Amino acid sequence: MNDHPAQPRAIRSYVLRAGRMTPAQQRALEAAWPRYGAVPDDLGDPVALFGRRAPLYLEIGIGNGDNLVAAAARERHANHLGCEVHRPGLGHALLQIERLALDNVRLLGADANDVLDALPAASLDGAAMYFPDPWPKKRHHKRRLLATPFLAALARCLKPSACFWFATDDADYARQAAELIDGAPGWRNLCGARAWAPRPHRRIVTRFEARARRAGHVVYELLAAPHAGECARGAGATRPGKT
Ligand SMILES: C[S@@+](CC[C@H](N)C(=O)[O-])C[C@H]1O[C@@H](n2cnc3c(N)ncnc32)[C@H](O)[C@@H]1O
Repeated sequence: MNDHPAQPRAIRSYVLRAGRMTPAQQRALEAAWPRYGAVPDDLGDPVALFGRRAPLYLEIGIGNGDNLVAAAARERHANHLGCEVHRPGLGHALLQIERLALDNVRLLGADANDVLDALPAASLDGAAMYFPDPWPKKRHHKRRLLATPFLAALARCLKPSACFWFATDDADYARQAAELIDGAPGWRNLCGARAWAPRPHRRIVTRFEARARRAGHVVYELLAAPHAGECARGAGATRPGKT
């Protein structure tokens, strides 16, 4: 796997910690990575990577991969890419992929920015980022993954009809993301300027969402498109602060 992304970036949205890896996760990383793992260079030809032509979805920062695996198991007609920099999370995802014998998932142990740089233009049918690291301290806001250059890179990769789903329980990050989307060239919040989307029914409740809800946090959802496309799955919008 790609432990050393090709293009070092000055400010990262993560801090790599060793983390605790179970023996099963370690085994899965050794045995199953050749089949399910990819590096950004492989993304130049997604059809070759998956061995078939199919709609392509990207989940950024998959954590343990629970939502990615559920999506791949449910939507077998589509190809699913997941990127994550935390190795134990990738190991956990691999264990589930092996158990379900999924052949429509590929994992990237790489920075999402490098993944977006490597994907062909207009190759994604959709992308999602759920509960990204919030970096709540003001001096750390520059580490937040959703930023103007990220939106430009993602817009290049998304097809004209594609959507981007975003969720966070950090109210400040949510407001910032809504404002950045409203201000980014070509991007449109599909629920209206600075409006929240309904929770996507297709997302399972991950560990992070469950923890946020247990703590009584509001979960803010955004649904946006970079090309004012045809994706209209968002309805029933509410204004920021009223969710
Ligand atoms: C708070 S966790 C949420 C995980 C998952 N989306 C969920 O809802 O359970 C955020 C994840 O994003 C990953 N991450 C942070 N920056 C990243 C980047 N630049 N590229 C890929 N993954 C990243 C972290 O390692 C972490 O696992």
